[in-house]
Amino acid sequence: FVLIQRWLCGKDGTYMTMLIDGKAISMQIKDELKQKAAELKAKGINVTLAVIQVGDNPASCVYVRNKKKGCGYIGIGSLSYELPEETSQEELLNLIRELNERDDVNGILVQLPLPSHIDEDTVIKAIDPLKDVDGFHPQSVGALCIGQSGFVSCTPAGIIQLLKRSNIDIAGKECVVLGRSNIVGKPMSLLLLRENATVTIAHSRTKNLKEVTQRADILVAAVGKPKMITKDYVKKGVVVVDVGINRDENNKLCGDVDFDDVEPVCSAITPVPGGVGPMTIAMLLHNCIESVSLKV
Ligand code: GUN
Repeated sequence: FVLIQRWLCGKDGTYMTMLIDGKAISMQIKDELKQKAAELKAKGINVTLAVIQVGDNPASCVYVRNKKKGCGYIGIGSLSYELPEETSQEELLNLIRELNERDDVNGILVQLPLPSHIDEDTVIKAIDPLKDVDGFHPQSVGALCIGQSGFVSCTPAGIIQLLKRSNIDIAGKECVVLGRSNIVGKPMSLLLLRENATVTIAHSRTKNLKEVTQRADILVAAVGKPKMITKDYVKKGVVVVDVGINRDENNKLCGDVDFDDVEPVCSAITPVPGGVGPMTIAMLLHNCIESVSLKV
């Protein structure tokens, strides 16, 4: 026991912190999916993802390019629809209806954000839940909530994989999710609950936030505030998952967690970049492969 304790805690009580390598884990998943795609191809099943982008938001361009690159890497097809900013909602809905009908399209992804004249909820709802590889359709979210089969939002699904593949137990743990967005916070809390954690969702109106986050065995930060989480928000030995992608005062990429401050007291932590980020695409590709067999 003493040896294990010595390994876990340094002389000054700091931890031997495990750095959770999202790049390596996402690569492992992509290689597994590559194998699955080849097996499907051998059976004559070709998987294709349709990616729709409206306008040319620079961040969206990068994400969309990487998603198509990911398809190429695992050996599935991708169709690309780059529509001008002034595309009407009706035109976009017509394209989605056409792709819903096509037997040679397995997944449909509409990159967000959309221009302000298009209603995102209406667009998401138009996607066939059987092709909703982003897991944003109300039917997909509802299915997740009541434990039925359906696509799961990629970033939170990726975080579960990061934890599992790093041998971090979730069952029975106190998990605090900071942030309540539809894309991350809400599905994250539902997934942790499905893994039998005790889950608290904290947000901008939470009182005594530090007291709440200090309870966490696993803390997931998804608030979009650069370096907000310092060591006084956490207890010793916490596992910290940082979903934030922000720029600090020097325009350097940083997360919602002040990594240098928090890292010494964690048992495990995800870096930014190279933590959660690469997992989103891996899980999107996972959903594309799953679309072949999913029944909703
Ligand atoms: N914009 C930011 N993240 C995402 C995502 O996961 N999916 C889509 N479609 N758009 C996004």
